Amino acid sequence: MTQPPVPNSGPVCVPCRLAVIGAVVLVLAGGFAYTAGWLTPARLTASRFINTFETVAGQPHPGYRRNHAKGLCVEGYFDSNGNGAAVSRATVFAPGRTPVTGRFAVPGGNPSAPDTSSPVRSLALQFQLANGEQWRTGMNSTPVFAVHTPEQFYQQLLAARPDPATGKPDPAKLKAFYAANPETLPFQNWVKAHPPSSSLANAAYYGINAFRFTDSSNTTRAVRWAMVPETPYAPITDAQKAAKNFLEADLDQRLQSGPLRWHLLLTVAQPGDPTDDATLQWPATRQQIDAGTLVLEHANSQEDGTCRDINFDPTILPAGIAPSDDPLLAARSAAYALSFQRRTREETLHPAVHQKLTQGQTAGQTQGQTQGQAQGDHS
Ligand code: HEM
Repeated sequence: MTQPPVPNSGPVCVPCRLAVIGAVVLVLAGGFAYTAGWLTPARLTASRFINTFETVAGQPHPGYRRNHAKGLCVEGYFDSNGNGAAVSRATVFAPGRTPVTGRFAVPGGNPSAPDTSSPVRSLALQFQLANGEQWRTGMNSTPVFAVHTPEQFYQQLLAARPDPATGKPDPAKLKAFYAANPETLPFQNWVKAHPPSSSLANAAYYGINAFRFTDSSNTTRAVRWAMVPETPYAPITDAQKAAKNFLEADLDQRLQSGPLRWHLLLTVAQPGDPTDDATLQWPATRQQIDAGTLVLEHANSQEDGTCRDINFDPTILPAGIAPSDDPLLAARSAAYALSFQRRTREETLHPAVHQKLTQGQTAGQTQGQTQGQAQGDHS
């Protein structure tokens, strides 16, 4: 068989080819540079967030989360009663049991900060669904967040940076931030009216951001969730305020007497309720669904426990739950990923780092008390 003639392409233009290759390399490098934020230094990137969290923490804490650094791991399960299936087809809402790994924490970037450094406590959970999906959530003990947008949160962090002269945040800067951002009022008012709980076990934890729930007939509704404790709320005591580190010992003691329980309450929005603004609560009259019971049985240390290598990214969701249009969610996802990347890298490079810090914690406690106390680190 004869081959078709190959057309004569003429002399090869080497400079043209090199120019094309050079252009491709430039476009790729430009893409990387843009993604890294080098071309747009004013753009709010995950690295700007994480670098600023590190500055607010005052000194490096390698291997630890860049926010909510002080915490402990917990394990248990979620018993679904089937009621959540009315709003979501996620299999976690079918009747039955789902294993859960979690983490209690206190906001701020210092793993040795006193428990009294913030009025907020947090609970993060990873539900391991039987079909391989996961539902990860990070919840705080306030029903609203201080700020509406990632940019505002960044400005709040800047206002909370320690003053080089005192090593502490400048209260005047925080005051000026709050005055310039009246969206923070519902959060400030809520915190004033609700003293911190005496225990991690008797606080309610709120997902705060809205999510989109889709049921088995493809109807989608906006939903917020909260874990409401069976243990009755009690405010922090004067003795606890003076002790400064009491939350972990209190939890261990309670768990020795048996598991601790919370109810998963789903609040269903009505059309027109804001889904993109975590500073605003929905009216108290909204439908609430008790979807089942979270049961926590064991606690272990965050230095080598089951939650250490989990990134509680709130956008990791099972089919039937999706992110809303709340701008905080994408910013959270990006910032948590970079915090996770830095701390796990440090973990690998310096495996002894956690051990040293843990041993040094008691001695460093007093020093730690002057750091991570920024009122602005309530995420
Ligand atoms: C733009 C807004 C926010 C930013 C930049 C931010 C940033 C961060 C970062 C960097 C971490 C450490 C993540 C890790 O290393 O695993 C963290 C942890 C956490 N954040 Fe946020 N956050 C934001 C908003 C929120 C909101 C609205 C909530 C509450 C609903 C929240 C709750 C939590 C919780 C519970 C943790 C601890 C997770 C754990 O225990 O591992 N954050 N945040």
